[in-house]
Amino acid sequence: MKFFVDTADTNEIKELAATGLLDGVTTNPSLIMKSGRSMKEVVAEICKLVDGPVSAEVVAMDFDGMMKEADELVKIADNICIKLPLTLEGLKACRALSDKGVQTNVTLCFSANQALLAAKAGATFISPFIGRLDDMNIEGLDLIAEIRQIYDNYGFETEILAASIRNANHVKDCALIGADVATIPPATLKALVKHPLTDKGLEAFMKDWEKTGQSIV
Ligand code: G3P
Repeated sequence: MKFFVDTADTNEIKELAATGLLDGVTTNPSLIMKSGRSMKEVVAEICKLVDGPVSAEVVAMDFDGMMKEADELVKIADNICIKLPLTLEGLKACRALSDKGVQTNVTLCFSANQALLAAKAGATFISPFIGRLDDMNIEGLDLIAEIRQIYDNYGFETEILAASIRNANHVKDCALIGADVATIPPATLKALVKHPLTDKGLEAFMKDWEKTGQSIV
């Protein structure tokens, strides 16, 4: 399973990229707003920090506008992935960009039928938002499972990029279902490593090691 980080905070990305665990980055207009920086500038910086795909989202609502914005965004770096909304115009742009060999991420997916359309449009990634479905008392993980089955039934190569991840259990459950990628907020990604028994065990080992009076180097 690939791990993307869902943020436009370059300090967080730097820290996580240094662990070697990061396979890509996703941004969206809200995350750009939160960064307080120019979109093109921050995305260009992110593209230098990670080798994998960096999703940059178009904001036009029509095909021509999306294509113009995509043309501008792909100039930033080779690892740009164009994020498009799950609308008919977005799917049309997805097909056109995929045919040109541009990586695409179709976002704001809330149903299996939407995911089926994105795969037919040649999307590199489909982003089902599980947390926002959970917020409405609809089981977000069921959507991931449905998409997995549909894509496997037909051999679609579009990767399932689980988004709107809110906690560590979301990550585990997406991995069990077989999502290809999870895009995770930095704090949740860092929380995956934590276990109280690890901390307790390490503390005991360190105390005993100190008593030996030895050093390894
Ligand atoms: O990047 C899209 C998605 O991950 C947003 O998550 O928490 O705003 O629903 P959230």
